Amino acid sequence: MFFRPRIKFWFLFFIIFIFWYFLLYGFNWSYLPGLSSSTSSIPVNPNTNFSNDIIVDTSNNSSIQNNATIEDLESLQIDLDPIIPNKEQENHHTEIERVRERCTGRYIYVHDIPTKFNDDLIKNCKSLNKWEDMCQYFENMGLGMSLGNPQRLFLHSGWHVTHQFSLEVIFHQRMKHYDCLTNNSAQASAIFVPYYSGLDVARYLWGNYNYSTRDKDSLELFKWLREKPEWDVMNGKDHFMVAGRITWDFRRGIDEDSGWGNKLMLIPESQNMTILTIESSPWNKNDFAIPYPTYFHPTSDEQVQQWQGKMRKQRRKSLFCFAGAPRPDMDDSIRGEIMEQCTSSGRKCRMLECKSDKHNCLKPVNVIKMFQNSIFCLQPPGDSFTRRSTFDSILAGCIPVFFNPGSAYVQYLWHLPKNYGRYSVLIPEGDVKRKKVSIERFLERISRRRVLAMRDEVIDLIPKVVYADPRSRLEGYEDAFDLTINGVLERIEVLKREMREGKSYSDEFDEEYSWKYYTFGRMRPHEWDHYFNRTNRIKL
Ligand SMILES: *[C@@H]1O[C@H](CO)[C@@H](O)[C@H](O)[C@H]1NC(C)=O
Ligand SMILES: *[C@@H]1O[C@H](CO)[C@@H](O)[C@H](O)[C@H]1NC(C)=O
Ligand SMILES: *[C@@H]1O[C@H](CO)[C@@H](O)[C@H](O)[C@H]1NC(C)=O
Ligand SMILES: *[C@@H]1O[C@H](CO)[C@@H](O)[C@H](O)[C@H]1NC(C)=O
Ligand SMILES: *[C@@H]1O[C@H](CO)[C@@H](O)[C@H](O)[C@H]1NC(C)=O
Ligand SMILES: *[C@@H]1O[C@H](CO)[C@@H](O)[C@H](O)[C@H]1NC(C)=O
Ligand SMILES: *[C@@H]1O[C@H](CO)[C@@H](O)[C@H](O)[C@H]1NC(C)=O
Ligand SMILES: *[C@@H]1O[C@H](CO)[C@@H](O)[C@H](O)[C@H]1NC(C)=O
Repeated sequence: MFFRPRIKFWFLFFIIFIFWYFLLYGFNWSYLPGLSSSTSSIPVNPNTNFSNDIIVDTSNNSSIQNNATIEDLESLQIDLDPIIPNKEQENHHTEIERVRERCTGRYIYVHDIPTKFNDDLIKNCKSLNKWEDMCQYFENMGLGMSLGNPQRLFLHSGWHVTHQFSLEVIFHQRMKHYDCLTNNSAQASAIFVPYYSGLDVARYLWGNYNYSTRDKDSLELFKWLREKPEWDVMNGKDHFMVAGRITWDFRRGIDEDSGWGNKLMLIPESQNMTILTIESSPWNKNDFAIPYPTYFHPTSDEQVQQWQGKMRKQRRKSLFCFAGAPRPDMDDSIRGEIMEQCTSSGRKCRMLECKSDKHNCLKPVNVIKMFQNSIFCLQPPGDSFTRRSTFDSILAGCIPVFFNPGSAYVQYLWHLPKNYGRYSVLIPEGDVKRKKVSIERFLERISRRRVLAMRDEVIDLIPKVVYADPRSRLEGYEDAFDLTINGVLERIEVLKREMREGKSYSDEFDEEYSWKYYTFGRMRPHEWDHYFNRTNRIKL
């Protein structure tokens, strides 16, 4: 009898031991999400075909989406790490989890289109442009040759002689390094079509090419796309592409040789796609503007900060400046008046007049030097609403002065602040045309405090409007490419939701007022209506 308590003790100890043993090894932890220890069969490659159903199902399941659950499991895992064997496999698994968390809803599938639609155009770069050998601009993944640092205007690297129409190539190169690519189109949230549509059409814009020659490749590509199984999933509404020229080169409304450009953006397939372009049409809903590529392509966060610091310290001797050419053939153009005002403002205004024979205003050194030395940079419309110069001026910390909201405010919705007064000035073009306003006096009346605040905002915008070098990665900034991807994924998500619910709000508005719908989300009369009255702009 006297040994009974001892037996009881050992019995209890034994029971507890058995209990722990089963807890640790008998129970299959892999059933708990985030805790699997049997990961060896799943490779770490983020692009492999995960069990799709898990990803799709949980995306709508609040009990799994709930961060608290995942956090709890993670802290439990940390507690158990010392006891559970195969810690390395655990780490592998958390890596997969991290990729999955980062990439869920962000996977992009890139269509493997025939090379005649992209790489072959680059190979034949000599014949792309009637006047200029384009080959130099495709070096360095489309960034162009390195600019070096002449007159110490730039940084010792990161600056290139970038052509304003090479966005298709740069964007494609960035896409090749996107960190949530997938080879499984069923897993993808969006489908990218790496067609160099602007390089294609540019071959035929000048010279006696009939309209069917200009349309040929676009039509062929869309036929190819439509025959792919990916098209049928959403009728192409999850497809997107880049058209690196202004929208008006792709909107030929008539099948006649006298019409301008091709009709890429008017054919039925492209109506369902999201087309990214450097200037979108205010009156159409399938194209979305993203920044023109300009000369700075940072390779690191430090390089961005270094440039921002340089621009903050820059001494600016002239009040305003203008780089461009007059448009004597355009009745509507305010450029003549602007150049006259600039000249009569004497030293307060600097001007770089573009003379076609000298290409002086295409030289980055000339443009950036003048912009760096000015407080305001005038950005009047040219042949169309927008200009690459707007992005050059932001780069140089020069506050852009617009004369028409179509030049930026209804364009770069994913990249520029909605509150345009924070980074720019709007002088109504009608007032300039009717000589009702002195630009010099208008700008001088802006308080010093406001000027400093606007310039700070402009300099803060720099990382958002540049395309980082595809060969490197910014860690702390989202650049123009990243912001574009966010915008595209968000838009396609909305289209998907509408499709599931059998609705299509985004198709229901009057397409003529796309600019208003996309900028303000509503269709009420707006003070800018007269800027977008097409009967006043028959030309477009
Ligand atoms: C990916 O998974 C889906 C569904 O599980 C399957 O139909 C498809 O064949 C897989 N694709 C690849 C490339 O393994
Ligand atoms: C997701 O959940 C919401 C709310 O419970 C529901 O309205 C929606 O139809 C669900 N979507 C899918 C794809 O299950
Ligand atoms: C959500 O997930 C829980 C836990 O995995 C599951 O029991 C439940 O059925 C799921 N609900 C839906 C709507 O998928
Ligand atoms: C869940 O966590 C992510 C990142 O950790 C965060 O962005 C998100 O806002 C969180 N969601 C909720 C509902 O807490
Ligand atoms: C997709 O497949 C191709 C060819 O099989 C391979 O070269 C590429 O690395 C894969 N890409 C991804 C994102 O898995
Ligand atoms: C257009 O030009 C191409 C090549 O010059 C020619 O083959 C074709 O027949 C022309 N088409 C029309 C409609 O004129
Ligand atoms: C575009 O999408 C609509 C549905 O919104 C569909 O009826 C139409 O056939 C699609 N067009 C093409 C060319 O796939
Ligand atoms: C556009 O302008 C014309 C004449 O300038 C005017 O008659 C018309 O009402 C305007 N349209 C709109 C929608 O404002």
